[in-house]
Amino acid sequence: MSDQHKPGTFYLTTPIYYVNARPHIGHAYTTLAADTIARRQRLLRGNDNVYFLTGTDEHGQKVQRSAAAAGITPQQFTDEVSATFRALWDRMGITYNDYIRTTEKRHAKGVQALFNRLYEGGHIYLDSYTGSYCVSDEAFVDLPPGTPCPDCGRPLETVTEENFYFRLSGFQLQLIDLIESGRFAVEPEARRNEVLSFLRGNVAAAPPEALELSAAGTAYIPGALKDLSISRSSFDWGIPVPEPAASESKQKHVIYVWLDALANYMTALGFGQDDCETYDKFWPADLHLVGKEIIRFHCIYWPAFLLAAGLPLPKMVQAHGWLLFEESKMSKSRGNIVRAETILDAFGSLKPEATTEEQDLFGTDVLRYFLMREISFGQDGSFTWPTATAIWSAALWR
Ligand code: ME8
Ligand code: MG
Repeated sequence: MSDQHKPGTFYLTTPIYYVNARPHIGHAYTTLAADTIARRQRLLRGNDNVYFLTGTDEHGQKVQRSAAAAGITPQQFTDEVSATFRALWDRMGITYNDYIRTTEKRHAKGVQALFNRLYEGGHIYLDSYTGSYCVSDEAFVDLPPGTPCPDCGRPLETVTEENFYFRLSGFQLQLIDLIESGRFAVEPEARRNEVLSFLRGNVAAAPPEALELSAAGTAYIPGALKDLSISRSSFDWGIPVPEPAASESKQKHVIYVWLDALANYMTALGFGQDDCETYDKFWPADLHLVGKEIIRFHCIYWPAFLLAAGLPLPKMVQAHGWLLFEESKMSKSRGNIVRAETILDAFGSLKPEATTEEQDLFGTDVLRYFLMREISFGQDGSFTWPTATAIWSAALWR
């Protein structure tokens, strides 16, 4: 992250977190990293020139199912869980400028405006689809149904639907060129290579006559990037596909949750709404901070939507690694989830004389210091209580 744009503005974002589960320190990791960068940027540029966005991702089948399992409406469910995230960030003194929820009217309006822009530009068409879908990742996967999802290991489900498609295939070379030239920066390098090989296709296995060269002279397989389904009609917890596209289909469609979610980075600033002063001041984003598992969405789909809509691209997507608990990925089923609240309580209690607010900020600083110092950014790192405690005492005696 260079300071080359100084003294201009700086706009940074975290992913908007799914409300299917309560926050854990994995979410706190991204949010704390973003908060740390935001604070530094404010010192460099002044408060008014920095905008830090976070929020929650509240639509989609996964959330609809979680709500059903909890026996409440999706809206009640998302209200409750979104409030839990926000309360945690407030308790930790996170200096976000705005907190977007995808169930807000302002967001729906902006998403529909983006959809219409894509539709009017001829980038969207209606077709029918049968294939495999991972509900947990909210992603279509090019593997037979029943096989485990390559990302999360859960079985893929078969989906047959009439869908609106986005002509993603048309952006293959443009995306390769933008990433190879650094005009759209993807960091760290390992992630950049991962995105590029996805874009290029399986070059090693292809006959030479199937290859073409990018501007930088690297080989790619034209056609390796497929069009993307951007609507769903088998459930309704989402933003409706707007007119005029809606009348093209007999079924009712909601917009694919990733198109909905990614657009938050613009809708929060006022894109597609009456007051877009903040949008004009801060877009394009300087930095989207994300976990490494969602780079395909941020480094392929998102810039392609923006190119199609004729909008400027974010300057950088920076992916960090996984926060593990004692070497394994935190998950509900393993029962090894660490909550930020536990850490705030544990370290806060070491300052019995302080107010609750001071205790929370102290606990947050211990966590912040641990995560930023102990884990090399971009790589996986482990949270362990002994290390956290050792770092905390080292920091105290320094
Ligand atoms: O993917 N280690 O939401 P999500 C490090 N809604 N970071 C972690 C982590 C861990 N163990 N667990 C979670 C989504 N994170 C979508 C995003 S954006 C337009 C939509 C962090 O609730 C990390 O930033 O699954 C990861 O990318 C994000 O939470 C995923 O949150
Ligand atoms: Mg996830």
